[in-house]
Amino acid sequence: MKQIAPSILSADFSVLQQEIRAVEAAGADLIHIDVMDGHFVPNLTIGPPVIESIRPVTKLPFDVHLMIENPGRVIDDYRKAGSDIITVHVEAEIHLHRAISAIRERGARAGVSLNPATPLSLVTEIIEDIDLLLIMTVNPGFGGQSFIEGMVEKIRQARRLIDERSPGVLLEIDGGVHLGNIQVLRDAGVDIFVAGSAIFHSGNYAGTIGDMRKILDSET
Ligand code: DX5
Ligand code: ZN
Repeated sequence: MKQIAPSILSADFSVLQQEIRAVEAAGADLIHIDVMDGHFVPNLTIGPPVIESIRPVTKLPFDVHLMIENPGRVIDDYRKAGSDIITVHVEAEIHLHRAISAIRERGARAGVSLNPATPLSLVTEIIEDIDLLLIMTVNPGFGGQSFIEGMVEKIRQARRLIDERSPGVLLEIDGGVHLGNIQVLRDAGVDIFVAGSAIFHSGNYAGTIGDMRKILDSET
């Protein structure tokens, strides 16, 4: 089943609880949480204490996207805070296999993410050891950027790699997803669609998520 994951990066942080409840009521499948450290990416967002404080707000799984250096060192903190999926960047972790193992040993699902310029070949050795592959379709760090068109072919190749080598892996994309491109991305084989500004800046969460779902469920 195709899933929609609103990214709270574009939510109103002064009323985060209401925002999360609103997208849950509007039909979200996951809550995508962007963690940035000001080093791996220039922006700085939130860490474990905020995740822990919003954990009781919703029953939806927390899809935690770590845009931080050396994420393997802090897996425990993010798991204890209530993360269900923990995704690390290949560019940020030298000991990727160890980080993935740590995520799974702590009972979370392990994701690995690739920046737009990072080749898919960097995950061929670990594709059988992960639960989710996240293809960045913008350069990480900020919401509201334009989708990088060249990523469609990378997504198709990722779909093939998953189908051939590890069919249980979920294919997620993040960045610049909106009502105008979601069908092409669905046809390229995406399972989980992260969308920040397209949902939170729409003024009508249920309408936008509902329209996205209609496209995802429509015949090709
Ligand atoms: C970017 C983040 C995204 C961001 C997407 O670094 O990882 O999750 O919130 O925002 P939109 O959907 O507005 O491109
Ligand atoms: Zn993200």
